[in-house]
Amino acid sequence: MKRRLEPELMDTDEQAAAYAAADFNESNSLFIDLLKQLSPGSVDGARALDLGCGPADIVIRFLRTYPKASCDAVDGSQPMLDLAQAELDRLPGIAQRCRLICDSIPSGQLPQAHYDFVLSNSLLHHLHDPQVLWRTVKETSTAGAIVLIMDLMRPASAGWAEALVETYTRNESEVLRTDFRNSLFAAFEPAEVTAQLAAAGLESALEVKVVSDRHLAVMGRLPG
Ligand SMILES: C[S@@+](CC[C@H](N)C(=O)[O-])C[C@H]1O[C@@H](n2cnc3c(N)ncnc32)[C@H](O)[C@@H]1O
Repeated sequence: MKRRLEPELMDTDEQAAAYAAADFNESNSLFIDLLKQLSPGSVDGARALDLGCGPADIVIRFLRTYPKASCDAVDGSQPMLDLAQAELDRLPGIAQRCRLICDSIPSGQLPQAHYDFVLSNSLLHHLHDPQVLWRTVKETSTAGAIVLIMDLMRPASAGWAEALVETYTRNESEVLRTDFRNSLFAAFEPAEVTAQLAAAGLESALEVKVVSDRHLAVMGRLPG
């Protein structure tokens, strides 16, 4: 099935609200489990960057898992960041370790060679040029940084995409079902991501793994 682009930013109030209200517990828990495999120990003082943070559920889970780390969280959608801020306002202990940045990547606001963790969930498929993500990973990370990028995988057929929409968004709003369907069509196949890593010179550090019936993960540690 051919890739079909979707808009990069989720910047309507309705879209952001539908996304924030949906239940992503299963996939967001998987993200943190994969991260713990990469970094099982404590990470005192570690600095993380979450790219395309949306309503900040991954950021909050990360900061709970690593209570001595901090996180900069970037998104180009102000409605998403308003929802993220509202959630953080209810969690002062977490909020003081989190900085929200409203910007689209490629971003001139991010410090270079600065982050010990570079994280992203469900951003890659939004990007019209995926190399924007891999360049940002390379530019912002420290030597030895841990990288975890998880995303949807493009299904082999429209029928399979529809089956996933039915299975995972049966009880969700029509806005969310449409976004999920569009995201599946916009996502990459694992082989395409492998080729992206090779083009970016990241293939020896980062591995592409299929981690569920609809997700792939790019994970590893950059050279120290
Ligand atoms: C599907 S949501 C994922 C949100 C969050 N990472 C999560 O897992 O819940 C994708 C997010 O990426 C943001 N986004 C898309 N393209 C972007 C870009 N070029 N720069 C920054 N954010 C972007 C969208 O606005 C949206 O909030």
